[in-house]
Amino acid sequence: MKKDILTLKDLSVGEIETLICRALSFKKGKKFGSLLKGKVLGLIFEKASTRTRVSFEVAMMRLGGQAIYLDCGATQIARGETIADTAQVLSRYLDGIVMRTYAQARLEEMASNASIPVINGLTDLHHPVQILTDLMTIVELKGSRRAANLKKCRISYVGDGNNMANSWIHAAMLLGFPLSLACPKGYWPDANLLTAADGFKNIHLTEDPAEAVEGSGVVNTDTWFSMGQEVSDEKRRLFEPYQVNRSLMAQADRKAIVLHCLPAHRGEEITDEVMDGPQSAVFDQAENRVWMQMAILEKLMGRKR
Ligand code: CP
Ligand code: NVA
Repeated sequence: MKKDILTLKDLSVGEIETLICRALSFKKGKKFGSLLKGKVLGLIFEKASTRTRVSFEVAMMRLGGQAIYLDCGATQIARGETIADTAQVLSRYLDGIVMRTYAQARLEEMASNASIPVINGLTDLHHPVQILTDLMTIVELKGSRRAANLKKCRISYVGDGNNMANSWIHAAMLLGFPLSLACPKGYWPDANLLTAADGFKNIHLTEDPAEAVEGSGVVNTDTWFSMGQEVSDEKRRLFEPYQVNRSLMAQADRKAIVLHCLPAHRGEEITDEVMDGPQSAVFDQAENRVWMQMAILEKLMGRKR
């Protein structure tokens, strides 16, 4: 049976641990063989992308396969062909699909009508493949090859309660590490998800960034204006206290690392000083996208699954 990754919850703890180990071993070994020789991945994107697109394309090349990028605006989807029909047709050409879109329901429609694996390359609600890379980066930089040890790591997220915040909540629900999120009122993570997370004592939501970051070993942030959201000065002013800067980092653990999925809006959610400073792991994190995509593609599209 095909396997999709529409949210992090489509993976078990064991599968997440295996993906992290495999991604780290790809990074260490740098020998890739031709695990996906003859396979073709389609990337169907309705929003802009640098990292997700390029890392999936490079991952396919390194594994001996090929990728086709489809800008949705140039496909018949833009002229009204249904996602369901598109999914059935593409399933006859391709071996896997990465889709970046707005509503999670659009992605689900693609997955339920495709006979090949479908991977969430970001929706308004979730960004699971980014979180898999972030977990890999934490395991790598916090000096343990065991994802199980993530349980001991205090992770914080400061900023908009967006797709990244939602996927961090899924990760904490699955893996059990302490997660503190600081988001302004009115910009909290998805309400259904917060209800599902109710009762998880390891997940804490506050409006106070200093409280969330206190003693944290990993400080995450993301843009205040996600793709598709309206940009306003009012929201920018409301978010000012949520900037990850030197003074906020002083509340975190001395050895804390800073993660940002990128693209960053320097001077808004993160300062140059932190982004380019010694605690920043953002470019290692960006590099790791390709190693993690290789592990994901091997799992979903390789011969041995
Ligand atoms: N982090 C991330 O998904 O980046 P892109 O939007 O460039 O793909
Ligand atoms: N939250 C951001 C992530 C970009 C990778 C967005 O959705 O635009």
